[in-house]
Amino acid sequence: MQSTLLKFLAVILLAVLAYAEPAPLPQFELLFSGPLLVGEFNPVSGLLGTRINAPIVGGNVSDAAGNYAATIIPGPGAEHGVVAADGTFFPDARMTLQWAVDQRFAYIDALGVGIAGVRDMFYAHLETDSPTWEYLNNRFIIANLTFGEPTPIVTFFGIKMDNSSLYTSTALVQQTS
Ligand SMILES: *[C@@H]1O[C@H](CO)[C@@H](O)[C@H](O)[C@H]1NC(C)=O
Ligand SMILES: *[C@@H]1O[C@H](CO)[C@@H](O)[C@H](O)[C@H]1NC(C)=O
Ligand SMILES: *[C@@H]1O[C@H](CO)[C@@H](O)[C@H](O)[C@H]1NC(C)=O
Repeated sequence: MQSTLLKFLAVILLAVLAYAEPAPLPQFELLFSGPLLVGEFNPVSGLLGTRINAPIVGGNVSDAAGNYAATIIPGPGAEHGVVAADGTFFPDARMTLQWAVDQRFAYIDALGVGIAGVRDMFYAHLETDSPTWEYLNNRFIIANLTFGEPTPIVTFFGIKMDNSSLYTSTALVQQTS
């Protein structure tokens, strides 16, 4: 009796597995990459670990074709991430880009996880008013920062999306206002 029930359940389980569509994995594309220059650390040993407090002093990024796209301007940017006792690094940074095409700016803030001074990855929230780059405003972006010589390299990836959804949501906003 019990084994009949088990067989019955096994058949149902197999049927469910056969019909379950695997969720498609997110697809990313390379947006831009380049050197990111970080200044001297001004560490604070706090309750959460070592808070970095380092200025972002420069850098630049090129697009997927290798063409210079923007300068990372010194001044507004800083890394305020924390290194936990076990060495896990939680980046918490802001940086400002100036686009080569029109000299307009992009604000980026970053939160992620990694190993301090080795590599980390972060979610990048981007805001820009550059007509050329404003399609990135509603893009989910992640980045990979790898420390090496002569400079750390930052690489931004955007999740691939159908740009037409941008216009659908604009239409919805207009409908409800
Ligand atoms: C980008 O930054 C690197 C490192 O500072 C520098 O060597 C390079 O000349 C810069 N490229 C541009 C186009 O500004
Ligand atoms: C991060 O960047 C480094 C250097 O560019 C590369 O070797 C590594 O594969 C990248 N990691 C991911 C997850 O993209
Ligand atoms: C979305 O639009 C941008 C800018 O026109 C373009 O570079 C990008 O390839 C487009 N992406 C898709 C998935 O169509």
